[in-house]
Amino acid sequence: MRIGIAEAIERLKSGQIVAIPTETVYGLAGSLAFPNAIDQIYALKRRPNNNPLIIHVSGISQVISYAPILPPGFAKLAEAFWPGPLTLISPIIPETIPASARANLPTAAFRMPEHPLANTVIEAAGPLVAPSANISGRPSATRPEHVEEDFGGAFPVLDGGHCTRGVESTILLHKNGKWRVIRLGSIPPESFHPILGYEPEVEHLKPSETPLCPGQLYRHYAPAAKIHIGDTKKFLETTPIILGFKEREYPKYAKVYILGSLEDPLSVSENLYATFRQLDLDRIAAAWVDMDFPHDGIWATIRERIKKASIG
Ligand code: TXA
Ligand code: MG
Repeated sequence: MRIGIAEAIERLKSGQIVAIPTETVYGLAGSLAFPNAIDQIYALKRRPNNNPLIIHVSGISQVISYAPILPPGFAKLAEAFWPGPLTLISPIIPETIPASARANLPTAAFRMPEHPLANTVIEAAGPLVAPSANISGRPSATRPEHVEEDFGGAFPVLDGGHCTRGVESTILLHKNGKWRVIRLGSIPPESFHPILGYEPEVEHLKPSETPLCPGQLYRHYAPAAKIHIGDTKKFLETTPIILGFKEREYPKYAKVYILGSLEDPLSVSENLYATFRQLDLDRIAAAWVDMDFPHDGIWATIRERIKKASIG
């Protein structure tokens, strides 16, 4: 059910859950002031309670009320990239944030979104927790209809159209004197070099390790359709469906889903989850992805999301 901004604000201020648009993906938002709302978000999403949420703020002054001692560089990063798709982790004063929102960690994740509707809502209703508005494990929602697919047509959604970034925020954590990328996202690691004086390393999880970003534990972003990557030739007869690029031809395939342009990675990130979801709407059992695309910039995030969707 599409709702307007006034109703979204009213609902949030009375402790209800509402889906809101951000520049990355839709968020399942609840007020940080209502611990019940936070519990409800975990239940609705069927999200494991050891996977903490991001707190969406309207500026760094709100962060300081929870985290008076920020890691070095936090303020500089926020100044350079907020509002925008960057999430920063900081140690916090535990009493100021419900333990459920941060999965009992002594830290919390903060971000100030760039979407005008999101910002208006946060300014009026206060800081919001807002995990991606999808059932855990499914592709994130980048359009209002995706939220309705997962939570039903009666679920309240503030309609902000398509999310233009299409993949989640980049998450940085300060550890051993340096910032590290603990989730690849909409801002590529090389973009932080001018601000930090170095390019933050990307955390790659080894099976035995406790992840720095608990969300990385889980299979993610996956449609019901089986996503195959790698050598397609052997299986063409059984799986003649491919996700590819508008500049290429795929004459051997029965059906081609166009992700976007090789010249314009943002067109691909904007479409990626919508295409995954379309496979399910079309009752496609399995599809290949053309993985022959660049490795730099946001392509790295696109590649990582496709790989995560293909595991399992
Ligand atoms: O773009 C985004 O970030 C979207 C929009 C709605 O803002 N939100 C989003 O939230 O992607 P979610 O809940 O799907 O992902 C949050 C990630 C999880 O992987 C979680 O493990 C990590 O943030 N996280 C949250 N708090 C953390 C903390 N204190 N330490 C490490 N990782 C944390
Ligand atoms: Mg998510």
